[in-house]
Amino acid sequence: MPKIVITGGAGFIGSHIAYHVREQFPAHQLVIFDKMTYAADVRNIQGLTATGHAELVVGDVCDFDLACNVVAGADYVVHAAAESHVDNSFGNSLLFTRTNVYGTHTMLEACRRMGVKRIVHVSTDEVYGEVRTGAADETTSLNPTNPYSASKAGAEMVISGYLHSYRMPIVTARGNNIYGIRQYPEKIIPRFAMLLDCGKKLTVYGSGKNRRHYLAAGDFAAAIVLLMRRGEAGCIYNIGSEDEFENIEIAGMIADIFGHALEDVIDFVPDRPFNDWRYAIDSSRIRALGWTPQHRLIDDLAGVVQWYRDNRSRFQRLVCDIAGQATDIGTGLQTGTRTP
Ligand SMILES: NC(=O)c1ccc[n+]([C@@H]2O[C@H](COP(=O)([O-])OP(=O)(O)OC[C@H]3O[C@@H](n4cnc5c(N)ncnc54)[C@H](O)[C@@H]3O)[C@@H](O)[C@H]2O)c1
Repeated sequence: MPKIVITGGAGFIGSHIAYHVREQFPAHQLVIFDKMTYAADVRNIQGLTATGHAELVVGDVCDFDLACNVVAGADYVVHAAAESHVDNSFGNSLLFTRTNVYGTHTMLEACRRMGVKRIVHVSTDEVYGEVRTGAADETTSLNPTNPYSASKAGAEMVISGYLHSYRMPIVTARGNNIYGIRQYPEKIIPRFAMLLDCGKKLTVYGSGKNRRHYLAAGDFAAAIVLLMRRGEAGCIYNIGSEDEFENIEIAGMIADIFGHALEDVIDFVPDRPFNDWRYAIDSSRIRALGWTPQHRLIDDLAGVVQWYRDNRSRFQRLVCDIAGQATDIGTGLQTGTRTP
């Protein structure tokens, strides 16, 4: 049976990709390879694993022998596993380099040895660094400004080496901020939703004027599937929307959903060590393949916020009981565990 492997598939974006892939490739065996860090949750993929529609292999993308075992016989590998939260990267940056650079290298080498037919690497618009005006296209040089984006850029440098040396069939997708259900509430939308649901104030960095573009997780997953099928090997694709908002606008929209005046629920806190003012990407290349976002944040936000309210017990400990930073609380699953 043809096989697809998704690394990081028990996390936020990976799980959206997994459900979409399941729908689009019904005849393939689907394997989710995930270390189950604090950001992962078995409930994110229960609809797949509990029904036998996917297998979860718990393990580290830095474990070469296990990676070879998992990708053996795979037609496609979608590599979405990463340490993904910029704030954490200021504290434990070495983990970011280990997972995001060495982990990507390990996956590439495993794919090369096992003869995987196509790899889609999930990257970020943050590799371009700050884009004050206009939009970066795929030829814009990389200028990462924090340990997270540096590690994602580092991963892309390893890919570049593999493309030149081995002509590997790798396609890279650089996405902008993705929103949706199942996102760990360290990121702005779920964090704000949870904070207000717990009766706390919204902590906004600096002036709150930093700008980001937002794309629905389902639209991003559709782009990844399109690249699995039709992305040109060796090519990079920006995947972005035109939905651009200041952080303070996001706070205002969420406060509005809860029926609060923004000024009553906002708390400005000192900015992080460096905070890019704006990211912006030109997605003409993937749009030429026929992809275009189907969702708008303004239409989706209330539904997304409601999901976090409905699932408050999941994140209660993190946001409501202790207002602290995310810690690696783990999931209790051992390496090598296979589900079902
Ligand atoms: N969230 C965004 O807005 C956004 C935007 C653009 C790109 N990205 C990229 O998308 C990918 C997924 O991001 P996300 O927001 O879903 O992150 P996430 O933190 O929700 O999920 C990451 C997943 O990777 C797994 N993982 C971490 N280290 C691992 C390791 N060593 N071995 C195996 N699995 C490991 C985690 O357990 C988790 O399931 C990342 O590559 C990220 O850089 C994210």
